[in-house]
Amino acid sequence: MPWLGSLPFYATCLCIILPPRSVDSFHVSCERFVWKIREMFSSKQLYFFPPLLRDPQETVVGWYSGGKMKMSPFLVLLITLLSATAALPSEALNVRGHLLKSKTFLSPPIFLRPGSVSNKWYFDIAFPRGHLALKSFNGEVVDERGVPVPLHETYLHHWVVEPYYAPKEAAAAAETQKLSKIILNRNSGVCKTTLGQYYGLGSETRHTATWVPDPYGIEVGNPEAPPEGYEEKWLLNVHAIDTRGVTDKLGCTECRCDLYNVTIDEYGRRITEDYTGGLYCCYDETRCKVKEGFADGEARKVFLRYTVTWLDWSDAVLPVKIYIFDVTDRALLEGKSEPACKVEYQVEECSSENRANNDCVHVQATKQILPRGGDIVFGVAHQHSGGIAASLHGEDGRLLCESVATYGEGQEAGNESGYIVGMSTCYPKPGSVTVRDGEVLTVVSNYSSERQHTGVMGLFYILVAEHEQQQQLLPAAAGKPGLCFSFPVSWCLPSWLSSNL
Ligand SMILES: *[C@@H]1O[C@H](CO)[C@@H](O)[C@H](O)[C@H]1NC(C)=O
Ligand SMILES: *[C@@H]1O[C@H](CO)[C@@H](O)[C@H](O)[C@H]1NC(C)=O
Ligand SMILES: *[C@@H]1O[C@H](CO)[C@@H](O)[C@H](O)[C@H]1NC(C)=O
Repeated sequence: MPWLGSLPFYATCLCIILPPRSVDSFHVSCERFVWKIREMFSSKQLYFFPPLLRDPQETVVGWYSGGKMKMSPFLVLLITLLSATAALPSEALNVRGHLLKSKTFLSPPIFLRPGSVSNKWYFDIAFPRGHLALKSFNGEVVDERGVPVPLHETYLHHWVVEPYYAPKEAAAAAETQKLSKIILNRNSGVCKTTLGQYYGLGSETRHTATWVPDPYGIEVGNPEAPPEGYEEKWLLNVHAIDTRGVTDKLGCTECRCDLYNVTIDEYGRRITEDYTGGLYCCYDETRCKVKEGFADGEARKVFLRYTVTWLDWSDAVLPVKIYIFDVTDRALLEGKSEPACKVEYQVEECSSENRANNDCVHVQATKQILPRGGDIVFGVAHQHSGGIAASLHGEDGRLLCESVATYGEGQEAGNESGYIVGMSTCYPKPGSVTVRDGEVLTVVSNYSSERQHTGVMGLFYILVAEHEQQQQLLPAAAGKPGLCFSFPVSWCLPSWLSSNL
């Protein structure tokens, strides 16, 4: 039954078509559902997206691929029925006359031997083109056959994506020349030199929602935005550590310097004695200590497979700004004017006294300034193994968002025991969580200190919709036609009906 191979695809369709009650729970439960089915299929060596085998670089998996999609008549009927009868809360705006599009891409191949590290920057990656509103970006590591690779084999330390402007005429220029001329197009965030990405996650990538709730979107590809003579492109950084056959899996993923046997960092600087672990010790092409018999292990080819979902840009989409806060930035607390985001920190093992009181929680907190206020419409934290949860608070201490780590319990990809396999997200009702221009926010990151952890992170990513823009754009959006669906063909509910929903 060939259509069976695309079952997960239909499940995804259903999840998108059926309007959410709460965007968060909806997307997360859908993702879990899709995930389950996908696992079922990958374990039988069938593939989630069969076309991937034929064209590994760029595959359309959109719910709408120019009518080429084959579909069981039963499913069409089911989806139509369900979408017609389901009660439609206002969050269902993503289908209001706009097509949600999606495409899955593969990164360049990443070659990893047991113990080895790859931390490369890929410029001009495959990415949707045009003036778009990004709605989600989901990535995971897969092998050559498209099968998800579990974290205990290839640990995904992080991936980040961000746009940059490159000179248009540079096609013929040498690679180094091109790179010297690029202009990074950073997020609106508060760390001036680091953490400029639009999206970025690590081991938690498989079960962390990145969905931007409706009617919001991250604006990209505006033809007016690049400076004269430049065009927008995208870069991807993937930091992966192969821990097959290593002597200490957690130590290798925490980049403990003794396991990497390095004394100088990536830039040739001496690593100081008191630096026990972190990115300075697990840079590109370093190697973690492996057990006997693994030293000559064959390199394996893996990829970051990423799926981007977007809408074409229109005035019905409200733009959001991206801010990333870093719990290691102590500049404000120390009275300095320039942010100092160190990205990583260390968690010391708790004292015997604390242990006796069952109080082995390491709390790291700091304050950072949000330059421009508005409504927080999405929030998520990033932590490493040992992380418990992180929170973001307003100046008066009110909770803006809390993001809690979930750990795997088994062996299979997406459920690896000992690893953070997901971070919970916040989808406040628009208008319910508001922050002022220049408000001083508090970032808190909690880790278990049952044992020492090196190179951990405590980042908080939020999307903010500014009020001015909402006021300008909301009346325009309100005048749009009724509720429309893009599936299985374009159709709209009459406006008298949809306005009552
Ligand atoms: C560690 O590095 C030193 C020099 O860089 C080298 O001589 C030594 O053999 C290395 N040790 C291991 C266990 O690889
Ligand atoms: C972090 O730990 C402190 C102290 O145990 C606790 O009061 C706080 O609620 C925790 N925060 C989060 C986000 O878990
Ligand atoms: C993870 O694996 C454990 C142990 O095999 C299993 O009990 C659990 O149901 C799995 N969780 C998910 C979400 O699949």
